[in-house]
Amino acid sequence: MTKPLIAGNWKMHMTVGEAVACARHLRELFPEPIDREIVIAPPFTALWPVSQALTDSPIGLGAQNVSDEPKGAFTGEVSAGMLADAGCRYVIVGHSERRRLFGEEDAWINRKLIAVLKAGLAPILCVGETLAQREAGDAFPVIEGQINAGLKNLEAGDIARCVVAYEPVWAIGTGRTATPAQAEEAHAFIRSRIRGLFGETQSADLRILYGGSVTPDNIDRLMESIEINGVLVGGASLNIESFSRIIRYSKG
Ligand code: PGA
Repeated sequence: MTKPLIAGNWKMHMTVGEAVACARHLRELFPEPIDREIVIAPPFTALWPVSQALTDSPIGLGAQNVSDEPKGAFTGEVSAGMLADAGCRYVIVGHSERRRLFGEEDAWINRKLIAVLKAGLAPILCVGETLAQREAGDAFPVIEGQINAGLKNLEAGDIARCVVAYEPVWAIGTGRTATPAQAEEAHAFIRSRIRGLFGETQSADLRILYGGSVTPDNIDRLMESIEINGVLVGGASLNIESFSRIIRYSKG
C-alpha cells in the first residue's frame, strides 16, 4: 500500500520569504523519509524558491491550480509543464473554492487533470458536496458526478498517479469537520465508484484524502479509518507546529 499523504494547501497566504521559512522549518522537523508522505502547496510565486529550499528533501511540492492549456496566449495562466519545471510533483485540481468562486466546472477540471498527467505530475482531484446538497440527500450523486466527469477519458494506468480528496464544502474553513463516520462513508463510496470505473486493483491502491477543518485535535480519529489515506489541510497547515502535529498523527 502507498504511504498516506498529508498535504498542506496554503491557499493565498505567505510571501516568498514566509513560505521559504516555513518550508525550511518543516524540512528540519522531517529531514528523512517517514512512513507518510508530506506535500506542501504554496502560492505560485513561492513554488520555485520553496522547491529550492526543499532540494534533496523527502517533502514534496504541489501547486494549487493549473491551466488546461500547454502554452500560448493565455494571460495570467500557468501550465502544468511550467509547474513541473518549477519543481512540483502534485497539482490540486478542482478545489471547491475554484469551482465556486472561479466558475470551474467538471469538463474544465477534467481537461486540467489530463494536462497535469501529461506533464508527468500527479493530480489531487477535489470533490465534495455543499451543505444544501447534503441536506437534500444528494451528497453521493453529486460526488459521483464529479468523479465520473473529473476522471473522464482516463486509462486504468493513469489513475495510479491520481489522488482524490473528499472535501465536503460545508467543512472547509468552517471549523465544522465531517465526523470520521461521515468521511468513511463518503470515501468508501468514492472507492466503489473507482472500482466500477477502473477495476479492483486501481481502486484498492487509490489514495483518498479527507479535507475540511482538519486540525491537530481531530486528525488521530480521522486517520483511524482504513478508508482515509491522508488529509488535505488548509488553515492548520499555515502554522508549522500544528501541521507537524497533523503529520505525526497516531491512530487511536
Ligand atoms: P481547511 O481547508 O483545512 O482550512 O478547512 C481545507 C481545504 O480547503 O483544502
